[in-house]
Amino acid sequence: PAPVIVAIDGPSGTGKSSTSKAVAAALGLSYLDTGAQYRAMTWWMLSNGVEVNDPAAVAAAAGKPVIVSGTDPAAPTITADGADATGPIRTQEVTAAVSAVSAVPEVRARITELQRSIAREAHHGIVVEGRDIGTTVLPDADLKVFLTASPEVRAARRSGELKGKDAADLSVTREALLRRDTADSSRKTSPLKQADDAVEVDTTELTLEQVIECVVTLVEEKQ
Ligand code: C5P
Repeated sequence: PAPVIVAIDGPSGTGKSSTSKAVAAALGLSYLDTGAQYRAMTWWMLSNGVEVNDPAAVAAAAGKPVIVSGTDPAAPTITADGADATGPIRTQEVTAAVSAVSAVPEVRARITELQRSIAREAHHGIVVEGRDIGTTVLPDADLKVFLTASPEVRAARRSGELKGKDAADLSVTREALLRRDTADSSRKTSPLKQADDAVEVDTTELTLEQVIECVVTLVEEKQ
């Protein structure tokens, strides 16, 4: 079949990453986690003393790190200037700073360009997950999915992921998650938003397996 480009967007805690990886693996497609790219940029800035709450400082540094994403859904990796960032990008420090960094237009321009070139080179097709893939990065994607879930369910899922860490407190997780979604949805450049031609899948009452099956079926209909 011709390479298929699938955009999966939505807020945190909707199962975007788990779903995107499983769909890519099931269909033999590449996979790109665009949130990991913004996190790697943020991690690099924190590690190099860039003041992440100063948009001018962030803009000036946006062109510096070389960020390389692995596209194997079975083992997604990411490096910044050759250093493995796969683990460090999941810390709370990075999570707390990433919305501010990703709101800076120079950061978005740089990373959007990277995303488009990775999608172009994926000859068997690719699943790209993020916030603005269907609206801005790949407006001509063959399939656009927008995942949603109630705030309660999203916080509970995120708490489950953080089990054992101090952020596992449900109300703290819920507040942090909603704050990040509000920031991501209200920024000027390329906010989190459902594309007009996206298929919305409300995952509140669905198991992960059901969401995966639903998206696999949607992709197969396009192939
Ligand atoms: O998906 P994840 O939670 O790892 O994304 C981390 C952050 O990266 C988001 O909260 C958002 O600020 C930013 N992001 C973005 N555009 C994307 C993907 C992620 O701004 N396409």
